[in-house]
Amino acid sequence: MRFYENPKKVSENREKQRAYYIPENDGAYTLLNGEWNFKYFSRDVDYDGKIENWDKVKVPSCWQTTGYEKPNYTNVAFQFPVDAPYVPDDNPLGVYMREFEIDDTERKHYIVFEGVSSCLELYINGKYVGFSQGSRLQAEFDITKYVKKGKNTVLAKVVKWCCGTYLEDQDAFRCNGIIRDVYLLSRPVGHIKDISVTTDKNTVNVVFEGKANVKLYDSGKLLDENDCNKKCTFNVENPTYWNAEKPYLYTLVFEYEGEIIKIKFGFVTIKISSNKELIINGESVKLKGVNHHDTSPKNGWYMTDEEILTDLRLMKKLNINTIRTSHYPPTPKFLNYCDEMGFYVVLENDMESHGFCIRFGHYEYDALDKTWPCANPDWDFYLNERMERTVNRDKNHPSIFMWSVGNESGYGVNMRNMLNLIRKLDKKRLVHCEDACRQIEFPQEYEPIDVFSGMYLPIDDCVAYAENKDNRLPVFLCEYSHSMGNSPGDVHDYVEAFYAHKAFIGGCIWEWADHVAMDNGVQKYGGDFGDLTHDKNFCCDGMVFSDRSLKAGSYEIKTAYQNIKTAYNKGILSITNRFDFTNLNEYDFKFDIEIDGKIVKAFNKKFDVKPKKTVKFNLDFDLPKSCKLGAYVNIFMYDKDGFECAQSQHKLEVEVEKITAPKKLAKLNEEKLSITANGNGFEYSFSKQYGNFESIKINGEEKLLDVIKLGVWHAPTDNERKNKHYWGGYDNSQTGYNLNKMFSKVYSCEIKNGKIVVSGSLAGVARIVCFRYTLTVSIYENGDINFDLKGDRNPAINFLPRLGFELKLPENDDKFTYFAYGKGESYIDLHHHARMGLYKSCADDEYVNYVKPQEHGNHYNAKMLDIDNSFKFKTDSSFEFNVSHYNAKTLEYAMHTDELVKDKATNVRIDYKVSGVGSGSCGPELNEKYQLKEEKIRMNFWIIK
Ligand code: GAL
Ligand code: MG
Repeated sequence: MRFYENPKKVSENREKQRAYYIPENDGAYTLLNGEWNFKYFSRDVDYDGKIENWDKVKVPSCWQTTGYEKPNYTNVAFQFPVDAPYVPDDNPLGVYMREFEIDDTERKHYIVFEGVSSCLELYINGKYVGFSQGSRLQAEFDITKYVKKGKNTVLAKVVKWCCGTYLEDQDAFRCNGIIRDVYLLSRPVGHIKDISVTTDKNTVNVVFEGKANVKLYDSGKLLDENDCNKKCTFNVENPTYWNAEKPYLYTLVFEYEGEIIKIKFGFVTIKISSNKELIINGESVKLKGVNHHDTSPKNGWYMTDEEILTDLRLMKKLNINTIRTSHYPPTPKFLNYCDEMGFYVVLENDMESHGFCIRFGHYEYDALDKTWPCANPDWDFYLNERMERTVNRDKNHPSIFMWSVGNESGYGVNMRNMLNLIRKLDKKRLVHCEDACRQIEFPQEYEPIDVFSGMYLPIDDCVAYAENKDNRLPVFLCEYSHSMGNSPGDVHDYVEAFYAHKAFIGGCIWEWADHVAMDNGVQKYGGDFGDLTHDKNFCCDGMVFSDRSLKAGSYEIKTAYQNIKTAYNKGILSITNRFDFTNLNEYDFKFDIEIDGKIVKAFNKKFDVKPKKTVKFNLDFDLPKSCKLGAYVNIFMYDKDGFECAQSQHKLEVEVEKITAPKKLAKLNEEKLSITANGNGFEYSFSKQYGNFESIKINGEEKLLDVIKLGVWHAPTDNERKNKHYWGGYDNSQTGYNLNKMFSKVYSCEIKNGKIVVSGSLAGVARIVCFRYTLTVSIYENGDINFDLKGDRNPAINFLPRLGFELKLPENDDKFTYFAYGKGESYIDLHHHARMGLYKSCADDEYVNYVKPQEHGNHYNAKMLDIDNSFKFKTDSSFEFNVSHYNAKTLEYAMHTDELVKDKATNVRIDYKVSGVGSGSCGPELNEKYQLKEEKIRMNFWIIK
């Protein structure tokens, strides 16, 4: 056994984990980030202690983003055989070396590594100091006796894998190296050690090792001062409480022999009420959260302060109030920012052993098996050690309201020991373990956990659990609304369910940002680098893109999480305050009354509405009797900087005028293969062979590049990764409905009462008919066309991706005006971020840059689509549409965006319906109410000349 393969000895000479702080007096802190000497060995055994030709690398960084190894994304699979605690004999090694200066040998000197993957062996001036495992945990070494005045060297040996790797199988690109800050601390002899700050009502309890003068400040104002020995208490009269909306912090300043340490803390109380609500500072709170991984397209696991702040600021703007640090503690600064900016944090331990599930070549969550570290007695020590380090590092953060022992690690006795350890170390915060809730062998009633946690559970199951009086725990979804690609479509319904059920306290979206590896400007993922094992693009599942730009799903989440809920009924608008600690009088409201896309009245208002209360007011507007497209009231909420925090829209009761059919039908001429009609400025030819228009000439100009078709297929979304095999035909001739290999059959095409009547069907190759229809086409004397489609969907196929007409128009007929949900894409289950209105766009602006190309750019609930110089589609009901320079096949088969080639055409879809996007890539099957499932189908629309 190599020394790094022993789970019973995972460190040597490392300091006992203390609370995170950095002394702030001059000279105390020297950051060693920056250029280091570096040498990479593909086998650690090849390093003989001598390196002559050093490379240079920036620290922190990862070998995979500095070019020493290729990026490898794997989800569940380990990168090596499952033979714990052993790792491959050929274990890559990175040796890091740099110099540093020491000018005072009278003091104590420490070196701190905030994160090294997978583990670290430390040498100062050529002498071995110690070693440490735990990639995302702090390793501090006392180097006083190794340093000398003047120049010193630090050398760190970092191997790619160690036994700890069996506990770090998180779903992400696998990265190695010194991945977080490294720094020196210079401290007075006899300095204080560790600091624990807890509050109880208005008392502040401070415990530490050593002696110090301790001052308590409130916003720069000195409240109290004490010379303390090991512990002291302070009283704060009427303290201002910390919460995520108004994060109020007090500061303790510790002074000893010129050393100054500041700890910011907050007053916050956390409990679960008797009716299973989450109560923070006495208020029931809903957790509107997201899972955050450290991921940067440039630096892999290393996130700069600026990148972290960008993420947190953006989360605030998207109305997120909770972060689960999946699935390891972030760099400590991250938590300082959370304290200051206001987030409820679920702090997760660096622990995941998911790869054990697939050790037999199939997926089996046999997580009680002794093979798993969670159950194997040899690993008990190590699991506890990790948990203790986590809690001790982060215990002073008011933002952390719940500890989590880890993710997907099974539920053996070692896990329970970790839970009990947290209970012992921290009496106030909640404890989370999703694995404990998976094991039906252990009724959660008896486990030391505070929430029933689940992943991707359907809403109905969560509600049933929450409403069952026999259950002890509230429901918390540690992961839900899998935001992969064009998604998520279900977040709105989940959030409404949180609010509708007391014991459904919220959840965290999976996940914050896409993980990608950049390759010549192209976003790449698993399998793109000759990977031995990988999980394709399953890492591209962020609610924001890898560069933190936003997609429709980001806005959908922002809207679902917004802090107002509005309703409209017969002239009365109501606005409910969904904040828990904030009055709506801190915001400005604007209202637009918009008729047929024109704002006819706009006004501003302010409201004094306490948390959870509702205000109602009369819209006070004389509505017209009728309009042409639709009348709506739009509501916007702005913060003091004018940023739009929330928006919503309601339909007003104004009748929409119906389309009046022209009086006379055009004269039809029937030929062998076609039916034609001509008139003032138009010439149409309808194919009897294919049952639709093959030529539409307007003012002599051909507007169709191909016959109009009926279709049900679109490029599958990531969320349809399972359904696509059911719907489509891929490698196996015997499975799937082959909807991507469609035949169109025309049984008859005749003229009846001056109209063209087609009877036809659609079916995939080698499969049953999926849709049988009658299409009645009326061509009027002025050139207007009415399409009336009646059909039966074959219920043998569970539901369809979409159904509608496909037109190929000339490339430049790509600019258009529409009345539908816009701007940006919208789907039946992803439109709360959008508003009905009159918008202009063009095919290129409709394109959305999903990492793996897929269906995008739909518009739900369209009443009108007017393509410049081409067709104007209208309806008395509604249709969905899509305008794109890409065809479905191109989008389907392109694996990366650089493989996309535009058509020399504009593809237009006028759809009866498009099924919702859901979040089925990992979440539950698309809710039936969003499926194209109905058997009787009727669609009517016009092309108006
Ligand atoms: C969960 C897991 C996450 C991630 C997600 C899928 O099961 O906890 O880490 O893998 O699925 O994207
Ligand atoms: Mg996993």
